[in-house]
Amino acid sequence: MNYKTLYFLAFLLLLNTFPGKAQEDLIINTQNRKNISLNGNWHYIIDPYENGFYDYRYKERNEADPEAYWNRPVVNKPSDRVEHSYSDEYSLKVPGDWNSQDPVFKYYEGTVWYQREFNITDAESFQRAFLYFGAVNYETHVYLNGKKLGMHKGGFTPFNFEIPKDLLKPTGNFLVVKVDNKRHADEIPTVNTDWWNFGGITRDVKLLLMPENFIQQYSLQLNPKEFSKDKNNQTLTGCLKLNEPEETSVVTVSIPELKLSEKLQIKGQNLEYRLPVKGLELWSPENPKLYRVDFIFQNDTLSDKIGFRDIRVSGKDVLLNGKKIFLSGISIHEEIPQEVRRAKTKKDAEQLLGWAKDLHANMVRLAHYPHNEHMTRTADSLGIMVWSEIPVYWTIDFESDEVLEKAKKQLKEMIIRDRNKASVIIWSVGNETPLSPARTAFMKSLVAKAKSMDNSRLVSAALEVHHENEKNIIDDPLGAVTDIVSVNEYLGWYGGLPNAKENSTWEVTYDKPLFFSETGAGAKGGYHGDKNQRWTEEFQQWYFEETIKMMKRMPENYTGIAPWILTDFRSPRRNHPEFQQGWNRKGLIDNNGIKKKAFFVLQEYYKKIEENN
Ligand code: GCU
Repeated sequence: MNYKTLYFLAFLLLLNTFPGKAQEDLIINTQNRKNISLNGNWHYIIDPYENGFYDYRYKERNEADPEAYWNRPVVNKPSDRVEHSYSDEYSLKVPGDWNSQDPVFKYYEGTVWYQREFNITDAESFQRAFLYFGAVNYETHVYLNGKKLGMHKGGFTPFNFEIPKDLLKPTGNFLVVKVDNKRHADEIPTVNTDWWNFGGITRDVKLLLMPENFIQQYSLQLNPKEFSKDKNNQTLTGCLKLNEPEETSVVTVSIPELKLSEKLQIKGQNLEYRLPVKGLELWSPENPKLYRVDFIFQNDTLSDKIGFRDIRVSGKDVLLNGKKIFLSGISIHEEIPQEVRRAKTKKDAEQLLGWAKDLHANMVRLAHYPHNEHMTRTADSLGIMVWSEIPVYWTIDFESDEVLEKAKKQLKEMIIRDRNKASVIIWSVGNETPLSPARTAFMKSLVAKAKSMDNSRLVSAALEVHHENEKNIIDDPLGAVTDIVSVNEYLGWYGGLPNAKENSTWEVTYDKPLFFSETGAGAKGGYHGDKNQRWTEEFQQWYFEETIKMMKRMPENYTGIAPWILTDFRSPRRNHPEFQQGWNRKGLIDNNGIKKKAFFVLQEYYKKIEENN
């Protein structure tokens, strides 16, 4: 074992001996728990030199340091020296990336301190309190009333920290959050991505008001091992985790519409259970049936809306509820292009998924990171299947055990948050990762982790293709362990013109379903001309016409496609002054929300698929 691993194991041990400083176990389904929203206007300080965190000798400031930005600045007399403060004049909306809120932030990458106060009116109505963040990009340190609650890394998954009882005050709780979105080679994602690194408290913030003990996490799904087409003979299976172990206690799980109510004995902290059910309506795009499920444990009563469906691979086919399906997909970044910002609300989710519905898509690839929970909950209710992905993107440090642990942690947080969302059918462990023995070992380890956590979904990744003239061969070693073989193809955009697709052939060395997780070409919305003119809508339209022709010649394991991409999106890699201006223009909808000609080509393709189903 090399010294790096030894150090890292020591680091993990240390982490576990001081749990107060570590990131705590996720609390799920927070929208249905007693909580106070901390969304709204927060003060900020931009701190590129992290002066609020390090002293002039570059040492982390001690907790009581009056110059630490987590402490309330105090001026007792006119001569007192204070060199930082929080003011209404400098405030940011939470949730929201900072880049889109003021020109001073447009390309800012670094530390911003957020600060607000909150009061607790009915302190007697709860026993414990937790601060919950839907996501913060990227490294977050949370302080309350001058005490550190914890630190989290990762820009797209939720986390929470308990507030020690003696720290919370009835009024004037001084909450400070240090957010640093600088990119690093040994993080997930790494330094180079084809999307803008929006920073900030980008998703909802809540104060969770909890009983002494409560249901921390649970899963409830159709048991894939016992799936039957007989609606009166289905079995649900699940697990349930309490915040603290109990000698022995009872959890009641009810599904009122199915007249089901089961009292389950729980000894300790965890419980696995099976629930035979009758008359179950399965979730599908045609019938996105969701059931109200109630969980009752002591003083904790929690409801959720859960759909039940079976997704599996059978030979070259993907089966949903036992029936072969074709995935008419579209890829989506978590952005609202008209406002040049991260998507964050239910209304944003309805806009993006509404456009996917306009396209007659039945599936979305949420690229390249877990999107906010409004997206997966809205997909559940609209009946849109979801590919959900962690940002193991391009040139990750595949040699590092620490980086693998970071990837596993984000994978775990994504699965725990969304494993009760019927819409999520695929967990993806990465995108376009360059071939090497270290990379394949790293990625296989992630596939194994996803499968060990959830045996009810497909696991995939955008694999590598190699080209021999007009032959495209998919033999990426990672394809040996993924459930479907997914690849991105750009014949006719990166190399050649769209007619390059006419003679291209595809060879898949795996007897598995083949899915195109990306294909696309750029066009500046409203720029028209001859189809040979790059950047015209006509060029992009030609690309999609040729792509669809090629798809019709695909081997029989062709099971779906998620073209790149629903809308233009921000990327600092795209700098043509006339056609890009910092936007990746492969959207089928431009940054004004206007559909380009190629949108209707793909829509026509999907409509025909619907008619033939
Ligand atoms: C890649 C990558 C995307 C990128 C796209 C492009 O396949 O996965 O993140 O935006 O190509 O080049 O536009």
